[in-house]
Amino acid sequence: MSGDGVNTGRRRFLTAATSAVGVAGAVGIAVPFLGSWNPSAKAKAAGAPVKADIGKLEPGQMVVVEWRGKPVYVVHRTAAMLEALPGLDGNLKDPGSEISKQPTYITGEDRSIRPEIFVAVGLCTHLGCAPKYRPEVGAADLGGESWMGGFFCPCHGSKFDLAGRVFSGVPASANLEIPPYSYEGESVLVIGVDSEAA
Ligand code: FES
Repeated sequence: MSGDGVNTGRRRFLTAATSAVGVAGAVGIAVPFLGSWNPSAKAKAAGAPVKADIGKLEPGQMVVVEWRGKPVYVVHRTAAMLEALPGLDGNLKDPGSEISKQPTYITGEDRSIRPEIFVAVGLCTHLGCAPKYRPEVGAADLGGESWMGGFFCPCHGSKFDLAGRVFSGVPASANLEIPPYSYEGESVLVIGVDSEAA
């Protein structure tokens, strides 16, 4: 059934996140509804999964996908971003994500299924503000040379790296939450469904 007027869950959208230097683009990427998936009203009320086509997400770019009323950040990490992660472990509260929420299949420093694609709930683990995407290496207001890119929460100053791992010395105590997710083919990201839930 089509019924777009009553199916707000189909209005999946991607909104470009703007970094402090305004480099993010991809405004209004259209995410087509995939007809093979048609959740019931009950499933929607419970927070049905959402699909997003991330095939056009450029390296370094972030988009936000709404899931269960929460922003989910999706970042296409570059090779340089990934290479920087191991060197940050000593500055982090939970570098191995031993106390932070994430599915069991998310392991390692990159905290992702595909290293180049980072997916996390975009709510600060302190009191729930939305951290800003700050990918600029060496940002003067975020520690200068030591800043390798990440997320900065403007509410009380918590900082997270590009795997959502929280830095020491900030109010937040846990890494950004990784939601359950999976892929359909090369470019369709499914948030809310994974192999464990299937
Ligand atoms: S809500 Fe993010 S630092 Fe307090």
